[in-house]
Parts: sequence; structure tokens; C-alpha cells
Amino acid sequence: MTTDKEKTYELLYKQVQALIDGEKDEVAVMANVAAMIHETFHFWWTGFYRVMGQELVLGPFQGPIACTRIAYGRGVCGTAWQEKRSIVVPDVEQFKGHIACSSASKSEIVVPVWKNDEIVAVLDIDSEKLNTFDETDRIWLEKIVTCF
Ligand code: SME
Repeated sequence: MTTDKEKTYELLYKQVQALIDGEKDEVAVMANVAAMIHETFHFWWTGFYRVMGQELVLGPFQGPIACTRIAYGRGVCGTAWQEKRSIVVPDVEQFKGHIACSSASKSEIVVPVWKNDEIVAVLDIDSEKLNTFDETDRIWLEKIVTCF
């Protein structure tokens, strides 16, 4: 059975494809993708950190201000980058080394953005509720970032 969340993601995926069709500028694409996800689900924070040398640097986002730089292997974002995989965090207090940009954030998902077999950025989404993200989010968000 297709859940409401899956249906929403399916539509979002099509909209993202249409929106970024032919656009090659990564920052422009990230800006609109962050806005589309954020507007659709009303998460607390939705945005990108871009790989710049040995650090992640804050990229386009929607939501409150956030930390600007995250070292390789640090926090959920730096760990997803280091381990080259998506990370779903049901309760941020249980994730050792979680970087709290806001005390309102309770759960989180981080998905690497790949280009030519390299991670060029991570998509980070925070929720002010516990247990917001699951496998459905992971699968669809991974799919969405392949549109880049
Ligand atoms: N919580 C993230 C830091 C980024 S903010 O949530 C926007 C982390 O632990 O990597």
C-alpha cells in the first residue's frame, strides 16, 4: 500500500525534476530543492552543507540560522560524509557528537549528494519532533538528490 508520505514524495520528486530540468548551477538547484522540501513538509530546518576541502560549509537552506562549518567526521552531517551513507537519527540526544544548531531540533536525517562518484554536499533536514524520519524519507530523499 502506498502511504500518504510516499505519494507526497512521488509528487515532490516529479516537481523537483521539472524545476531543475536543464539547470546546471548547483547552488541554484540546492536553493530550490531546499525550498520545495521545506514548503512541502514544513520541517524545522532543511538545507545543504557543501564539501569544501576538509569541511562542510553551509549552503542554501530554509529555516533558522545554522552553524556555518562542520569538520569531516563531526556531527551527523560530517559522519554521513565520512561514512558515505545516509543517517537517520530518531532522537538527536542519542547521537554521540550531534551538533545542536538549535535546541528545538529533536530528530534529523542527513543524505549525501553524489556527483561523479564523489560526495559534493549533504542534505540535512531537522524536525522539532522525535522520530520524524524513516526509511521512506531516506529512499525518497536519496532519489531526489540524484536529480542534481
Ligand atoms: N545537527 C547537524 C548540524 C547542522 S544543523 O542541524 C542545521 C549535525 O549534527 O551535523
